[in-house]
Amino acid sequence: MSQTDLVIEALPGEWVRVRVDGREYVIAAACPHRKGRLIHGYVNVRKLQITCPLHGSTFDLATGCPVAGPGTDPLPVRQRQDGRSEL
Ligand code: FES
Repeated sequence: MSQTDLVIEALPGEWVRVRVDGREYVIAAACPHRKGRLIHGYVNVRKLQITCPLHGSTFDLATGCPVAGPGTDPLPVRQRQDGRSEL
């Protein structure tokens, strides 16, 4: 069984790049709940979701939609020209 390749890195301008097995997502660095630093978040590589280290809100990496609280606002994600969120 192969190991999943996961990279989380800070980008200029308060963005974070999350790369999972070659798929890239660019998300806001700050959680929309209370500004938790998502560079320290937990990435579920199977569900492609990130969980904030501060209070545990979880967001879909591709859409930014919250999938678990306490945060209810969507996480900003950077969209490509073709409308996909992966860069
Ligand atoms: S700051 Fe992220 S869940 Fe509260």
